[in-house]
Amino acid sequence: MNKISQLISLLGGTGVVAEKLNIQPSAISNWKKLNKIPNKKHEAILKLSSNLDINIENFFPKKNILNVKDTKVRILLIICGGIACYKSLEIIRLIKKTNIELDVVLTKSAQKFITPLLVTSLNERKCYTDLFSVEDETKMNHIKLARKPNIILVAPATANILAKLANGFADDLASSILLASFSKIILAPSMNPIMWNNLATRENCKKLLDRGVKFIEPDTGDMACGENGTGRFPEPKLIFDIIMGYINKNQTLVNQFKNISILITAGPTIENIDPIRFMSNKSSGKQGFEIASELAKRGAKVTLVTGPVNIPYPNCDNIIKVTTAQEMFDVVTRQLPTDILICSAAVADWKLIPKISSNKNIDINNKIKKNNDNLSFEAVENPDILGTVAKSNLRPKIVVGFSAETNNLKKNAYSKLISKNVDLIIANDVSDNKVFGEDFNKVCLIEKNNCEEWKKQTKKSIAVHLANKINHLLTNFNQ
Ligand code: C5P
Repeated sequence: MNKISQLISLLGGTGVVAEKLNIQPSAISNWKKLNKIPNKKHEAILKLSSNLDINIENFFPKKNILNVKDTKVRILLIICGGIACYKSLEIIRLIKKTNIELDVVLTKSAQKFITPLLVTSLNERKCYTDLFSVEDETKMNHIKLARKPNIILVAPATANILAKLANGFADDLASSILLASFSKIILAPSMNPIMWNNLATRENCKKLLDRGVKFIEPDTGDMACGENGTGRFPEPKLIFDIIMGYINKNQTLVNQFKNISILITAGPTIENIDPIRFMSNKSSGKQGFEIASELAKRGAKVTLVTGPVNIPYPNCDNIIKVTTAQEMFDVVTRQLPTDILICSAAVADWKLIPKISSNKNIDINNKIKKNNDNLSFEAVENPDILGTVAKSNLRPKIVVGFSAETNNLKKNAYSKLISKNVDLIIANDVSDNKVFGEDFNKVCLIEKNNCEEWKKQTKKSIAVHLANKINHLLTNFNQ
């Protein structure tokens, strides 16, 4: 039985498919004979299969799978001025065969090899070249170009663009876009082997890898410059296939947490002492925001409850801003029930109530004067959001806590795991003060019967690993 016959039989047989597609059964028999379905019927067949939850990946080329899911995949291709840049025209041609929306940027050096007109003709839309263009600035400035794509592919990526990206330069359109983007960045470097192996390039690549940039490694062989070694631009089809593989993998991820509600606390809380002074902590909110962003990308319905922060808000369903621990507690308890709770906020453990000698409270609506006799502060404990919810009868299926420690990291985190009744604790050592506000973090994952030391990585990368872990726990919970 050939592939198309197998597919038709999976879909219910010739009669059923003919009826559902409103065509003659003889047409279906023809498809089976030719082992081919006409292009114009692909979409209908794919719809039929998705209704029946049949995986038809083996029956159709990937291009059509993209078409059907109708996901709005957008790629920005940045072509730099390496001698191999003409090969990127083939990448444009291959992407054009899919329903992916493609924009192309040519750097100044790339324009020495290929023209914007050629790219525009191939891609059938404007090719971007200038950072300072009056026309582009009104319609599609570099910030919009940076935010639009899911993926930014730099191919070929020269030693120059690697150095600029690694060191945060933004002196032309391409580097400014790269710096202003949240998208997945994929680099396909190509250059002379000595340049590729130069310590400066090696260090730049290492920095970029650590930040989560993905590389498509250059090939080894004869180079256009006459030398031999590593630095050749990979075949365009290979680059295209890697990009498609990445998209397909992510499309599976998109629905991983579909219909799952996740409540996340993040950032610090602030406890006012009087109208001017307050007590708080150094939490930036970055780790919690990365987690919210990652889980939202995977289809979860994310509600983020955040204390006051100075970083951009992630893309998620609902963001609720609070100031004090009590407000955070009230909001979180009002949001229950939820499937998953992740408490990454650094909640102030106490609020400070100013008192004077006679043990009387002071009017905190006015600035406390320095000359108050025997001024002291009573520390009143704030409600424990994590512990309270995890022990309540509205306990979510999975509860994740954080534990910032200056000593006995694992021991203290484990005690919290047990005393607060949570499933998983992400513990980090904050003794050297190098966690708050940073982009990197080094954490331990602690469960009742498991302790994992994760290597130092970006907070984004920790969010990805945590999302994988939570997915695993959820799958076990549902079994
Ligand atoms: O007890 P400790 O503050 O170290 O516990 C840390 C964990 O508990 C974090 O997940 C934090 O978000 C949560 N927590 C809370 N409410 C508090 C204090 C901490 O939810 N009042």
